[in-house]
Amino acid sequence: MAFDTVAERSNELPSFIWDEALIRRYDLSGPRYTSYPTAVEFSAEFGPEAMAEAARRSRATGGPLSLYTHLPFCAHLCYYCACNKVITKKRDKAMPYVERLLREAALQARLFGADRPVQQLHWGGGTPTFLPREAMRHLMAGYAELFKLDSSETRDYSVEIDPREVADDTLATLWELGFNRISLGVQDVNPAVQKAVNRVQPRAMTEAVLDEARRLGFRSINLDLIYGLPYQTPESFAETLEAVIEMSPDRLSVFSYAHLPDRFYPQTRIQADTLPSPQQKLTILHNTINRLLDAGYEYIGMDHFAKPDDSLAAAQREGRLHRNFQGYTTHSDCDLVSLGVSAIGQTDEAYFQNNHDLAAWEAAIDEGRLATIRGVALTRDDRIRRWVIGQLICQFRLDRKQFAARWQEDFDRYFSDELRRLAPMIQDDLVADRGQVLQVQPAGRLLIRAICQIFDLYRKEGASQRFSRII
Ligand SMILES: C[S@@+](CC[C@H](N)C(=O)[O-])C[C@H]1O[C@@H](n2cnc3c(N)ncnc32)[C@H](O)[C@@H]1O
Ligand code: SF4
Repeated sequence: MAFDTVAERSNELPSFIWDEALIRRYDLSGPRYTSYPTAVEFSAEFGPEAMAEAARRSRATGGPLSLYTHLPFCAHLCYYCACNKVITKKRDKAMPYVERLLREAALQARLFGADRPVQQLHWGGGTPTFLPREAMRHLMAGYAELFKLDSSETRDYSVEIDPREVADDTLATLWELGFNRISLGVQDVNPAVQKAVNRVQPRAMTEAVLDEARRLGFRSINLDLIYGLPYQTPESFAETLEAVIEMSPDRLSVFSYAHLPDRFYPQTRIQADTLPSPQQKLTILHNTINRLLDAGYEYIGMDHFAKPDDSLAAAQREGRLHRNFQGYTTHSDCDLVSLGVSAIGQTDEAYFQNNHDLAAWEAAIDEGRLATIRGVALTRDDRIRRWVIGQLICQFRLDRKQFAARWQEDFDRYFSDELRRLAPMIQDDLVADRGQVLQVQPAGRLLIRAICQIFDLYRKEGASQRFSRII
């Protein structure tokens, strides 16, 4: 078994080890744990009434809020895309959608409480910048009337940006509206790859948006890349990485492309024989992690990298990192109010999702109803397991004493079966049992989904085909 230590990390987290034999052995399909229970456990029995009750109970806690808005419109179709989106060139669709969002926001503000500070706010898509400037302003002004928006330095107000959909004044408008973080979709800078996925985005265009964002003062700038796209090779992706490292974003998301044309219709436009082989994908991933660590980025976990001075890396070092539907986050204690088609909300006790069909969502809002179509109420056991999985996926360690203090349970007794099933992973040095602490080892970092799956009650029998492959 060949070990290749690709980098020593300067903080107390373990360095990263690539072990191909272990990667192959544990490469099961598995959830990404942006929630626990995961979205496949959401049930249609959890409807608007249950959601309203969850929101009322959240209100009683009075804690801070996170406000997510799904803006589904895109002017062009990227063939790989697995997001919930509506392809249209008609900009006049934006304002009616915004008006409905504000109606939905009014309903939810009444339930969740209008006086709770909104510490975190995110516009996701689709393409949020599809909205004309006036629609953006109208939406944020409406939110400001309905919720207590935060203007402090510590707020985390972010927006997903497609650089092809940025006009001269777009970033300045977003900055003025209170956004302080952005994430740019790049995927790949190679022209042949871009052409094959119908997303032609010259490198200079991305750089111009980045420069402008920095000039305005945006921080924690993230770039999204995807590996596994048509015509990518280890060599071509290495060139993309060099270009991206030169751009020097604070954070990088490097997602794996899963070709599932039966599930995502646009992917039928991608020919399977143009895709890199699984071995090439593995090589690309290995080289990518190597190169990014070498360039000074920290491997946060799953698909995410950040510069050591970025708030995400700092939160991980200080044990404050959390995970929600937007991925890793530094804001832990916020309940999530979610607005728009397909949006998912969260409280300490429940998850709930809006209808993913635009016409159905519109109809619900027009009738003055909540658009919740499914969700799940968490049991105490769900909450315990969510905590455990959260510790592992965010901090790569689990402290038995902390567990006992938080849940008044003995970890070894509560998880005796899980510990038995964890034993082979301990044997393979993916995880070390150090008495008080279970520590994810360098070879286990990449396989964190498989480790978390041990503590997932709903996956006890092993992997489910409903999830994309881990690697
Ligand atoms: C909603 S999009 C980002 C915002 C904007 N629409 C854009 O494309 O620039 C979020 C990210 O999801 C990722 N993504 C979309 N479809 C994917 C797929 N099939 N596999 C992996 N990543 C995907 C892309 O990296 C994309 O930037
Ligand atoms: S990747 Fe972004 S721009 Fe492309 S179709 Fe998907 S949501 Fe729209």
